[in-house]
Amino acid sequence: VVPSQASSDGFLKCLSGVIPSQLVYTQSSPSFTSVLVSAIRNPKFATPGTVKPLVIVTPTNASHVQAAVVCGRQNDVRIRVRSGGHDYEGLSYRSERPETFAVVDLASLRSVTIDQKAATAWVGSGATLGELYYAISKASSTMAFPAGLCPTIGVGGHFSGGGFGMLLRKYGVAIDNVLDATLVDAKGRLLDKQAMGADVFWAIRGGGGESFGIVLSWKVNLVPVPPTVTMFSVPKSVSEGAVDILTKWQEVAPALPDDLFIRVLVQKQVADFQSLYLGTCDTLLPLMGSRFPELGLNRTHCKEMTWIQSVPYIYLGSTATVEDLLNRTTDTTSFSKATSDYVRQPITKDVWTQIFAWLAKPNAGLMITDPYGEKISSFPESATPFPHRGGVLYNIQYMNFWSAATNGSAQIKWLKDFYAFMTPYVSQNPREAYVNYRDLDLGENVVVGNISSYQSGKVWGEKYYKGNYQRLAMAKGQVDPDDYFRNEQSIPPLMATK
Ligand code: FDA
Repeated sequence: VVPSQASSDGFLKCLSGVIPSQLVYTQSSPSFTSVLVSAIRNPKFATPGTVKPLVIVTPTNASHVQAAVVCGRQNDVRIRVRSGGHDYEGLSYRSERPETFAVVDLASLRSVTIDQKAATAWVGSGATLGELYYAISKASSTMAFPAGLCPTIGVGGHFSGGGFGMLLRKYGVAIDNVLDATLVDAKGRLLDKQAMGADVFWAIRGGGGESFGIVLSWKVNLVPVPPTVTMFSVPKSVSEGAVDILTKWQEVAPALPDDLFIRVLVQKQVADFQSLYLGTCDTLLPLMGSRFPELGLNRTHCKEMTWIQSVPYIYLGSTATVEDLLNRTTDTTSFSKATSDYVRQPITKDVWTQIFAWLAKPNAGLMITDPYGEKISSFPESATPFPHRGGVLYNIQYMNFWSAATNGSAQIKWLKDFYAFMTPYVSQNPREAYVNYRDLDLGENVVVGNISSYQSGKVWGEKYYKGNYQRLAMAKGQVDPDDYFRNEQSIPPLMATK
């Protein structure tokens, strides 16, 4: 559908009554492009061919968001909401197909208010994880929040899909620690947990971004961490026994005490074992000696620090500071494509050898494996929409990168071929995937009669949500039966009567 002038004029006129003009950027505004690209994480979605929004609205309070929804509905302009812009498919600011849409960018709605006594916080969706972690550390050096590693991720999109990081074995996914939220629904109403009702409150905690409305803020439970944590990174090449150590890791890492998290970054011919331990080197060494002696951990590997120092250390490098967590600027030079799997049965040694052969091919990417077990695995699959719980040994993220000098076709082909190779060794029926590692190759919505089809959505929906897909569709039917909040992988509405 080609954008109709009438609807865009009507939309802008409607907005102008409520939202100060300096918060609204049309395509002809001088700052339109800089505002648009300010939160584009993947430059492959910043090309002349990218389907861009008609207008970007940058609300500074809830009433602006409500007005954008009401005006959008009146004028047939859909809204894509953006918090941190890290969506792997760019769905918060671009469309696969021509479409009239506006972006509501929540970057200004990013306050973090800590209640130290209650060990809770209210955080705006537009805050980055780095801003959230920083604010918590200023209130207390022994409180933390269990969410992702990259500090520029937006809270809004991250929480919408679950959100996990190095505290996942101790404290679960981010949304396991959400107590309340505020949501602007498709009627433009501002609702809290009580007003949105149990089904919608369940759905927004992991049912994927965009589908249920615009989440403005979240009340979260803060979690205790000791004054000293220990980080290590131990790389092992194939010639140093990486195959055997990885084979053992699969059974050890998901069964370790919850204070110890060891993920692996597997690239080229090296497996890099990266860890966060909630304790000191003195207690870590005997634990590793008894449970995972094959890694050969010794005192020289231990880096003791505070939890907040561990955040920039692991993601930004050993010279980064805690203040760097406040930097919202993202690196947009590397183009990328990613996808994910879940492993429920250990992969054999022979297959690991073959995996290393894949990683040695020209244009190969990498894989990151995050072990589950303990808290994240302790909830029933239906407790939240995030269903990857009991029985999961680990999550795999596959990634490949390229520069502007190529079109990425060789790297994308490698990723797809490797994903096909992995089929027999990962979860089946459905082959599970993590919605925050969004991949449109898993399937896209088919719109029939201006409503996304529930049946067609199953192909990707059951990978992301397993048996929770149907309940998510029912919640969507309750809160947005007209399918106003829609993207290529939003939850289709299912009516209770059908
Ligand atoms: P963005 O703004 O692009 O939104 C993502 C989706 O949610 C879009 O569909 C958007 O419309 C919707 N949305 C955004 N805000 C919303 C709101 N307020 N209400 C409703 N819908 C909303 N994940 C992880 O679990 N652990 C990790 O360690 C990492 N690490 C990581 C590193 C890097 C470099 C990237 C690019 C990504 C990750 N991720 C990750 C994945 C990340 O969790 C995922 O991309 C999140 O959806 C990003 O949230 P943003 O708000 O930044 O994205």
